[in-house]
Amino acid sequence: MEEVKNVPRHVAIIMDGNGRWAKARKMPRSYGHIQGAKTVEQICEDAYNMGIEYLTVYAFSTENWSRPDDEVSQLMTLLRNYMKTCIQRASKNNMKVRVIGDKTRLDDDIQKSIADLEEATKDYTGLKFTIAINYGSRDEIRRAVTDIAGKVKEGIIDPSDIDEEMISDALDTSGYPDPDLLVRTCGELRISNFLLWQISYSEIYVTDVAWPDFDKEQLRLACEAYAKRTRRFGKVLEEE
Ligand code: FPP
Repeated sequence: MEEVKNVPRHVAIIMDGNGRWAKARKMPRSYGHIQGAKTVEQICEDAYNMGIEYLTVYAFSTENWSRPDDEVSQLMTLLRNYMKTCIQRASKNNMKVRVIGDKTRLDDDIQKSIADLEEATKDYTGLKFTIAINYGSRDEIRRAVTDIAGKVKEGIIDPSDIDEEMISDALDTSGYPDPDLLVRTCGELRISNFLLWQISYSEIYVTDVAWPDFDKEQLRLACEAYAKRTRRFGKVLEEE
């Protein structure tokens, strides 16, 4: 495979289309999610081999609780199993795992597995892999504002101290760079409450390929499209 130049440092992915992929095969939606979880495992390895340093995926949104009960419980089972088996794979691949979102609504055993996984991988220096679970960007911003307001109330900071850096630091993604590239699979042109603050200047790439079919070649195409973009960050470049 040709080497991709100017690889994005941080790629965020809205993994959409598991349900449609399964339906097209006359299979239950849960089958699409199971295949989607396998894709996650493979893409982590491919991303790192390609030179991507940070990968963030949207696994379960704050809105996903309103799906039918059996689908929610199947997704939770999948995530529960993933958290347990991920420790071994992460140590093999030197992968540091972090979970963002409001974990307090998750079952106690899942919260415990997440804490174990984050602790076991915290010093790994390979791919920084972030999984968004019970994540909603508006909820994340609300929690950050509550946190900052509490500090103001206690007199630790003054309202005039609040700058963009302080807000970034109060978000679940604190310490990580903003995504350079946001990928959405299965064709929809929306952000779905994902990383609203962090993607202010991210390049967006949408593919019609459903998540279970997203592979190394698809990732390479997304990175190549990114490499051709000119990022202006709101400025006019000298050559323009
Ligand atoms: C969107 O497809 C996908 C989800 C809501 C869940 C994403 C979860 C996984 C890929 C598997 C578990 C993740 C990890 C990290 C192990 P959809 O169901 O909305 O598909 P549709 O739009 O075609 O109905």
